Amino acid sequence: MKRRAWLGVTLAAAVGWGAGTSFLQKFREESLAPFVPSPQAVVDKMLGMAGVKPGETVYDLGCGDGRILITAAQKFKARGVGVELSPELARRTHERIRELGLQDQIRIIEGNLMEVDLRPADVVALYLLTSSNQQLRPKLEASLKRGSRVVSHDFVIPGWQPSRVEKVAVSRRVHTIYLYEMPPKPR
Ligand SMILES: C[S@@+](CC[C@H](N)C(=O)[O-])C[C@H]1O[C@@H](n2cnc3c(N)ncnc32)[C@H](O)[C@@H]1O
Repeated sequence: MKRRAWLGVTLAAAVGWGAGTSFLQKFREESLAPFVPSPQAVVDKMLGMAGVKPGETVYDLGCGDGRILITAAQKFKARGVGVELSPELARRTHERIRELGLQDQIRIIEGNLMEVDLRPADVVALYLLTSSNQQLRPKLEASLKRGSRVVSHDFVIPGWQPSRVEKVAVSRRVHTIYLYEMPPKPR
């Protein structure tokens, strides 16, 4: 390879690598939980506890493979908005929703859940971490309308009193679901 061509390849690699590291750094900084899908029995229980009604809008903040939104659309006739930080997961979930013909009911936003407008939500589903819920709490308090519900898998929202707590056993592991109604009572 000629010297000039080699320099071009090296520069392009360096720029690409730089973009990659800044993406990874931003991803790490913004990530509020790893991808661990909720078992289907937990998903059904979460949506049941939230009392999802036909036509309501369910947000899943950190929607992973979209199973909560897909269940909300198919079993509860609801609309869904999912926010997912991982571009690869967001792309695969978007594809799956198209395959299922649910693209008119469910929208996937690739991005940081902390930056999404939550005002249209009737129900918000969470499976993050307690520290992430703590970080999210002021946004939920500022955005969610009276009568909307928040369901959280396994992790409490610090400072809020749940109106219901249920347990679901799946393969010998017990999952806890917390239901909060807006405005929540302080704990
Ligand atoms: C424990 S998984 C839950 C997946 C799904 N909600 C469920 O219950 O099956 C958490 C998801 O949140 C996503 N996530 C983490 N931080 C995020 C952020 N700041 N914005 C959007 N998504 C995020 C992760 O990529 C992961 O898919």
